[in-house]
Amino acid sequence: MIKNDLYLRALKGETVDRPPVWMMRQAGRYLPEFMKLKDKYDFFTRCQTPELASEITVQPIRRYGMDAAILFSDILVVPQAMNIEVEMKPGLGPWLPNPIRNMKDVEQVIVPDIDETLGYVMDAVKLTKEMLNDEIPLIGFAGSPWTILCYCIQGQGSKNFDMAKEFCFTQPVAAHTLLQKITDTTIAYLKRKVECGVNAVQIFDSWGGMLSPVDYQEFSWKYIQQIIDALKDDAPVIAFGKGCWFALEEMSTSGASALGVDWTITPEKARLYTNNSITLQGNFDPTRLFSPPAVIKTKVTEMIDAFGKDKYIVNLGHGILPNIPLDNAKAFIDAVKEYGQ
Ligand code: CP3
Repeated sequence: MIKNDLYLRALKGETVDRPPVWMMRQAGRYLPEFMKLKDKYDFFTRCQTPELASEITVQPIRRYGMDAAILFSDILVVPQAMNIEVEMKPGLGPWLPNPIRNMKDVEQVIVPDIDETLGYVMDAVKLTKEMLNDEIPLIGFAGSPWTILCYCIQGQGSKNFDMAKEFCFTQPVAAHTLLQKITDTTIAYLKRKVECGVNAVQIFDSWGGMLSPVDYQEFSWKYIQQIIDALKDDAPVIAFGKGCWFALEEMSTSGASALGVDWTITPEKARLYTNNSITLQGNFDPTRLFSPPAVIKTKVTEMIDAFGKDKYIVNLGHGILPNIPLDNAKAFIDAVKEYGQ
C-alpha cells in the first residue's frame, strides 16, 4: 500500500481533498544537488547506474515533497537498445551520429530483449521503489513512437522535425516499419517496468503537435493506442501529447487513465473536448515559473479552480526549465498543498 496515494486516486477519478502535484522533468538541472552529480558523471552513466538514477529520482521529492516521483532516465534509452547509436552532447542535447535514412537502415533496427539491453532501468526501478519506501507512487515513462522516430531520423533536436516528416511522407512503408518496431519495444519495456514496480506509465509525445490532425492519426496516435491497449490492464497509462489538443476527444476514449495537456489550451476547453470524462494533467506554462512566488501561487489556485480539484493532476504544460529559481518551484508545489485550506 502506498501511503500518499493521491496521484493514484486522481487517476481513478476518485474525490480528493486537493489534487496531487508533480512536475515534468522534476529531476533536473534547476536543482543544485542534481548539478553536483551532473558535473561528476556523464548523462548515460547517470541513466545506467541504478544508484545514481534512483538518487536523482528522489532528490526533488526530498526538497519539495511532490505526490509522485518519476524515474530518472530518458526516452532515448529505447532507440539505444534497438541498435541505434545515441549520444548526449553537452550544450546541444541528443545527437545520433548515424540517423536512419531508408528501409535498409530500418532493417538494421532490432526489437531487443529488454532485460539484456535495458536491465539497468529495471534495477533502477527496483532500487528507487526501495528508497521511496511506499511513501509515494513511482511513474515510469517512454517516448511515443513518433517522438522517438523524430530523433532517429532528424538525428538531433529541431524546431519542426522537417526531415522526420519528409521521411514519413516520402517513405511511408519504411516509416511504419520503424514505428511498429519502436511500438513493440516500448510495449515490452513498459510492461517490464510495471513488473519491476512502477505504479503508472506516462507516454511523452513531445513532438505530436508537429503533425497535422490527419497525419497525427497515421503516424502517432495509432501507435500510442496500441501501447495503451497493451498496458491498460497492467497499470494506469497517461498520454501527454504536446500541442495535441486537436486530438483530445479521441484520446479521451482510448482507455488511458489520464491525458496531459500543455498551456496552449484553457482548462475549460480541455474539459469540453474530453467531455469531462477523464483525468487531466497540466498545464502551467513552464516559463510562468519565472513570475514572483506570490503570482505563481495565485495562478496555480486559479488553474485548480478552472480544472476542478477532482479528476485532475497539477503539473506543468511541459518540462521545467533549467534556470527556474528554487523558491519559485517551491511556490508551485506549496500552492497545491495549501489549496482549499
Ligand atoms: O522528468 C524527469 O524528471 C525524469 C527524467 C527525464 C529526462 N528526460 C532526463 C533528462 C524525462 C522524463 C525525460 C524525457 C525526455 N527526454 C523527453 C520527453 C519530455 C519532454 O521534455 O518533451 C524528450 C523529448 C527527451 C529527449 C532529451 N533528453 C532532450 C531533448 C534532452 C536535451 C534537452 C534538455 O532538456 O536538456 C535530453 C537530456 C536530458 N534528459 C536531461 C535530463 C535531466 C538534461 C541533460 C543532462 O542532464 O545532462
